[in-house]
Amino acid sequence: MVAARAQFLGAGHYRPIAELLVNLVHSSRLGGGLVMEVGAGTAYYLSQVVNSLPGRLGLAVDLSKHAARRAARAHARVYSIVADVWDRLPVADEASALTLVVFAPRQPRELHRTLRRNGRLIVVTPQPHHLVELRELLGLLKVDPSKESRLARGLGSWFRLVTKKPLEWTMHLKSADVAALAMMGPSARHLDPASLSAGIAGLPDSIAVTAAVTVLEYRRL
Ligand SMILES: C[S@@+](CC[C@H](N)C(=O)[O-])C[C@H]1O[C@@H](n2cnc3c(N)ncnc32)[C@H](O)[C@@H]1O
Repeated sequence: MVAARAQFLGAGHYRPIAELLVNLVHSSRLGGGLVMEVGAGTAYYLSQVVNSLPGRLGLAVDLSKHAARRAARAHARVYSIVADVWDRLPVADEASALTLVVFAPRQPRELHRTLRRNGRLIVVTPQPHHLVELRELLGLLKVDPSKESRLARGLGSWFRLVTKKPLEWTMHLKSADVAALAMMGPSARHLDPASLSAGIAGLPDSIAVTAAVTVLEYRRL
């Protein structure tokens, strides 16, 4: 999963998310402190945000030690720890000036405890039609249509929403990209490798795939 994620992200297909995160961070007046990504995977987003903020340190948090190893090599100013977001994170109260959660689980209480009072939390979630063309074709898990309202309910007692930006673009994917995409996400565990290969073999050389996410910026209550 981690190698597939590194391959897909390295090809730049999700670059628009990284660019929007960097722009958003630069338009928010951030106080001093750490930049943290929870469920950071390979720290693709964290390393780009940290790179755009000279002198800042980044902390990648992930349950997977394979992901954590990759994340530790993502950038000279990014450090990495293995931790479960559903437990108490080994991070001091209010250590983070900016916390990112991109396609990853969120635990509102810990996100709140570890964020500075004037800090920012940025969450990226898929919209229901994200990767719609491949969901049909390869039987990927559906995005729960109530995901955004569940997110609002979960974070609402701890954070105030300040910005909400929908982001949508078309990716032109080759079969190797489609295979990496299928293997890097939560559907990977449920996929049968034989039907995945058969589905991919039936694809044209390049397929247009919709990417659609919502980027939400919160302040601590
Ligand atoms: C879909 S991936 C997203 C990774 C990264 N944010 C990105 O977009 O490239 C979800 C990540 O959350 C991590 N994760 C899942 N459950 C977790 C948990 N309970 N605590 C910490 N990380 C978790 C997974 O290991 C995985 O790296």
